[in-house]
Amino acid sequence: MAILVLGGAGYIGSHTVYELIDAGRDVVVADNLLTGFRAAVHPKARFYQLDIRDRGALDVLFQAEHIDGVIHFAASSQVGESMSDPLKYYDNNLHGTMVLLQAMVAHGVDKIVFSSTAATYGEPERVPILETDKTVPTNCYGQTKLSMEQMMGWVSQAHGLKYVALRYFNAAGAHPSGAIGEAHDPETHLIPIILQVPGGQREKVSMFGDDYPTRDGTCVRDYIHVTDLAQAHILALDYLLAGGENNVFNLGNGVGFTVKEVVDVARKVTGHSIPAQVSPRRAGDPAQLVASSEKAKTVLGWKPKYADLETIVSSAWKWHQSHPHGFEEA
Ligand code: UFG
Repeated sequence: MAILVLGGAGYIGSHTVYELIDAGRDVVVADNLLTGFRAAVHPKARFYQLDIRDRGALDVLFQAEHIDGVIHFAASSQVGESMSDPLKYYDNNLHGTMVLLQAMVAHGVDKIVFSSTAATYGEPERVPILETDKTVPTNCYGQTKLSMEQMMGWVSQAHGLKYVALRYFNAAGAHPSGAIGEAHDPETHLIPIILQVPGGQREKVSMFGDDYPTRDGTCVRDYIHVTDLAQAHILALDYLLAGGENNVFNLGNGVGFTVKEVVDVARKVTGHSIPAQVSPRRAGDPAQLVASSEKAKTVLGWKPKYADLETIVSSAWKWHQSHPHGFEEA
């Protein structure tokens, strides 16, 4: 009776594994370690190094383990890269999920919680965004995640699979213990990039565009602590295990911060001046993404514990100070 976490060596996956193990669950992790780190996998989880596109490896795993439910994080997730190399996203995200669902159907595993994204909405018509709002992705990453949701819908109709798609807004922060945190190579996300300045790895931050229709001209995002995201996965899995129907939930704090405001919070947390300059807009960035997460609160009973941006940035700072090279040895 185990939970299979695919992509459990990655940023959000590894935090979810920590929460599952803390909750006393039996956890199996599978990851191809292309972007994840073996050191991020909780020592109490059973680890399989495999790629979800490898049907034979999935068959071995499903035969060896008794899996009750799957949490699926195994995907490529860089918006910019998805625009320059869309076929990588179709292969890893859509083809990978297709092979996974084929294996689940064959082995009678019929519950899956999976990482979707605010990028499924594209440029929103209004904020906060509701799950029922239009989904018109502006990048290939968001398109593949939306197509993954739709694939699960059809497989559900045909084979009775039940799924929950969790549409994250901007995941940030690190495990409160400081044991695991965010590590990407190359790093593209705002908060870790800002923290590289007080960390001595970067001289200044570039703020991409200050002519957006927002209160200070920089983009507005809804930052959500990775541990709060992790908790939502456990609630969603338990919802499915209790007989819940297919569903989609936004996960955010419902409060938007501009890029300039995030830099200011990081200055306060680190005590560093963090020089910042305005540079041109980055392609594909919507001006504002802010979630309504009322549905997750009402249906799943989700209660974010680390909603305050200063707390989120402080936890990230603690991780970056203790692991300046991420999971790699110096
Ligand atoms: N930004 C900067 N300078 C930087 C890096 C980022 O100004 O050096 C800005 C971006 O332009 C954006 C904001 O900071 O306005 C946040 O950027 P991130 O790259 O941290 O995050 P995104 O909002 O682009 O993307 C994240 C996830 C995606 C997901 C999306 C959904 O990385 O996987 O949220 O909202 F699709």
